[in-house]
Amino acid sequence: MMNTNSSADQFTFGMIGLGTMGRNLLLNMADHGFAVAGYDKDPEKSVLLEKEGADNVVKGFTDIKSFVNSLQHPRSIMMLVPAGPIVDSVIAELTPLLDKEDIVIDGGNSHFTDTTRRDKEMADKGFHFFGMGISGGEEGARKGPSMMPGGDEDAYQFVEPILTAVAAHVNGDPCVTYIGPGAAGHFVKMVHNGIEYAIMQLLAETYEVMRKGLKMDNEAMHAVFKSWNEGRLQSFLLEVTTDIFAYKEPGSSTLLLDGIKDEAKSKGTGKWTSQVAMDLVTPIPAIDSAVSMRDLSKYKAMRVEAASLYADEQAGLSVDKAAFLAQLEQAFFFSMITTYAQGMHLLASASTQFAYNLNLADISRIWRGGCIIRSAFLETMLSAWEKNPELKHLLLAPAVQETIKETQPGVRAVVTTAIAAGIAVPTYATCLSYFDAFRSASMPSNLIQAQRDYFGAHTFERIGQEGVFHADWQGEASVQP
Ligand code: 6PG
Repeated sequence: MMNTNSSADQFTFGMIGLGTMGRNLLLNMADHGFAVAGYDKDPEKSVLLEKEGADNVVKGFTDIKSFVNSLQHPRSIMMLVPAGPIVDSVIAELTPLLDKEDIVIDGGNSHFTDTTRRDKEMADKGFHFFGMGISGGEEGARKGPSMMPGGDEDAYQFVEPILTAVAAHVNGDPCVTYIGPGAAGHFVKMVHNGIEYAIMQLLAETYEVMRKGLKMDNEAMHAVFKSWNEGRLQSFLLEVTTDIFAYKEPGSSTLLLDGIKDEAKSKGTGKWTSQVAMDLVTPIPAIDSAVSMRDLSKYKAMRVEAASLYADEQAGLSVDKAAFLAQLEQAFFFSMITTYAQGMHLLASASTQFAYNLNLADISRIWRGGCIIRSAFLETMLSAWEKNPELKHLLLAPAVQETIKETQPGVRAVVTTAIAAGIAVPTYATCLSYFDAFRSASMPSNLIQAQRDYFGAHTFERIGQEGVFHADWQGEASVQP
């Protein structure tokens, strides 16, 4: 029965922010037997929480003091509010009401540098605080998300039984584990989202190749996505895409997708991933390209004007359709693996740079369920890091080499064919070129060094000779160390 007459110290866990994510995660906790309280200024949200949690011990509050007073000591309070200044204002409103030793969790998509700052500010005030990425959208929050907590480990251990109970589980393993100190949890969630952007863009390019190149209708595309999702490409994002290709506008025979504007929005986590990758000198071009394509999509008027200037007949591809679709399946698998590889490489760099001490096997393990980038392939990724915890790059793992070799002809065929036909496949192309450069023992970067030295005397190093050199490129003088 719902507990409506709350008294002090009654609830085990409190949630601030009763939007879909906060409400669903709280209801999930209540389903697992925890007495929970939620706070939101909006009375409708509080009423909705109590209505949906009517069978369990769930209480909604619109007054923050009563909410805080209703919680057991030390208090465990999670914020699920939009990232940015709102998080700081909630903390400012909350902390005067707390006791030392109380625990505050930021479960939103905060930028990791904000979490680093808040971690210190809260510790200085004597409170426990940790940032935790939560993935899985509204359904994940309700039925089992993947969670990436970092920061104050003692505080995490205190709430671990609750988080473990509500997380998704794969083969008995909960999709939550302590990620590392400071902002490690939010950093890992940010990279998760970067990977999410790239896989979504790969699926969008797949759609483009199928509709413009192969002239397939929605029903045929649905059938292909569905069959792929029954094989090695099985993944949540492919499942979502398959469903979208079957969803008709209610009361109509038209696919809802066909009526949606082709301008993609974003909240910033993909962009942050690219920005940090540049700072950490770790290339993640699949994610960069996905961010750029969302940005390009926003320039609709310019694209329409350019379309009239550079009109193309879009005659379609002259290929054997069945064979090309098999190549497309290979291209997607190749590029999906390359995307994960780039994201994991960034995590390895951040682990060193920020002393996060990340365990890439654990991260692969908790991404197998609940989160948006979960896929059958993550079992392979997990085994790669379990077999070799020192593995530097996923593409160097024995576990993926055969698949990369097998799928490489497919991605090469798809990229060259699509580009020759004028169909944009930037993320496929960049995955392939990244791979081709990555497997080059010799890159043409010696020319870059020569150019830099030519116009700016930036010096260069020589093969087989120690030291730093400069040449008088236009004069007679010899090369000088
Ligand atoms: C998740 C999602 C979630 C959210 C994205 C959407 O893991 O559950 O990543 O966090 O859906 O932030 O991001 P964009 O609005 O930037 O596409």
